[in-house]
Amino acid sequence: MIAKPEKDRILDEVAGWLKAKKVVRITLSRPVHKKSGLKNVYVRPVRIRGLDLYSFTYRHPERDEVKNHDPAVSREKIGGLLEHVFRNMHVYTLEQDLEVRIDKNGTYALKTSAPSFTSLPEVSHDRKKKRWITTADNRYLRELGVTDPAGRVIPSKADKFRQIQKFVEIIDGLMEKVRLKQPVHVTDMGSGKGYLTFALYDHLVHNRNMDVRMRGVEQRPGLVAEGDRIAAATGFGHLEFMQGSILDHEPGPLDVLIALHACDTATDDAIFMGMQSQASLILTAPCCHKQVRRDMEKNTAGSPVLDYGILMERQAEILTDAIRALIMNYYGYETQIFEFVSTEHTPKNVMISGIYKGKPANRESILEEIGRLKAHYGIQQHYLETLIPGS
Ligand SMILES: C[S@@+](CC[C@H](N)C(=O)[O-])C[C@H]1O[C@@H](n2cnc3c(N)ncnc32)[C@H](O)[C@@H]1O
Repeated sequence: MIAKPEKDRILDEVAGWLKAKKVVRITLSRPVHKKSGLKNVYVRPVRIRGLDLYSFTYRHPERDEVKNHDPAVSREKIGGLLEHVFRNMHVYTLEQDLEVRIDKNGTYALKTSAPSFTSLPEVSHDRKKKRWITTADNRYLRELGVTDPAGRVIPSKADKFRQIQKFVEIIDGLMEKVRLKQPVHVTDMGSGKGYLTFALYDHLVHNRNMDVRMRGVEQRPGLVAEGDRIAAATGFGHLEFMQGSILDHEPGPLDVLIALHACDTATDDAIFMGMQSQASLILTAPCCHKQVRRDMEKNTAGSPVLDYGILMERQAEILTDAIRALIMNYYGYETQIFEFVSTEHTPKNVMISGIYKGKPANRESILEEIGRLKAHYGIQQHYLETLIPGS
């Protein structure tokens, strides 16, 4: 047992390890307040654009939140979490493992042991990134107008290219979490010009050596014809574009459904199609949340918060996506909501992912949660509910 003031000594020791790049992982767990919603926090080293940082994953019941900090700020963050938010901390370093336990009286108990790890994890994002989408020799990027004939990204398309890279990285990570039989059937709903459709196909087939059948569904015939032309020209033999609306599409076997910035309720159409097919993975980046907002505007007039247009807009976005995630939970999907690129590149940067897990035990409480949210914000019905038979 050690006395409470020694918290500073522990933090100094951790700070030394952080600075010396000896930390393999830190876990903070056993919340002080169970209802706080934060289950645990994982800290791991990362290298981002040449900087050695620590990535903090804050695990909430429905989502993860990730923040990166330099070693000095990391010490402060850990200091704020230990004792105030969590009673346990495990620090795995190349020198030793340290376990800190704090009892209800605030008494610290420490245990050290031989290191569980003898090397640091792969910290460089750069090495991994090389395996995502490369510009050189990628004819589809040229055909789509993302790169010039020399394989350089055209400046006005830099944000788009960054978005493509990030998207492929995210979906690659999510696909690792689900067991998929080959061939893997992937459909991109509202595929537009097909930037992401092509990039994902390229990655899965050429980097991951997967047998993939991919479709883009798009209502604009010109984009469909152009997508098919580029697929043929680039030899992407199992990629096709189909003209039509999402809801009318006959999906056939469907393992992975993606929908990026499908306008307003088209995101709901896509989620519905994915749930109906029990796709193993659904990944959407919603855009323009108008439907819920219309109800809210009618029913919350005079609200000191929602009378401000921008706050109404943000709240409508939050509620639309929260209810989407709850409906997905109800239908057996474990969901996460997260930002996928920085807001400086696009304001439409929230993603909802769902991994199919089977019927949940707490369906009644999910329904109650949805009902409460709707009642509080004067929402008659979320459009996604209207798609579900018997609703
Ligand atoms: C903003 S664009 C996004 C395109 C692409 N997903 C991307 O992220 O680059 C949305 C596309 O969805 C298509 N779309 C919207 N609603 C649709 C629907 N109900 N059925 C099929 N396509 C739809 C639009 O025509 C448009 O091309």
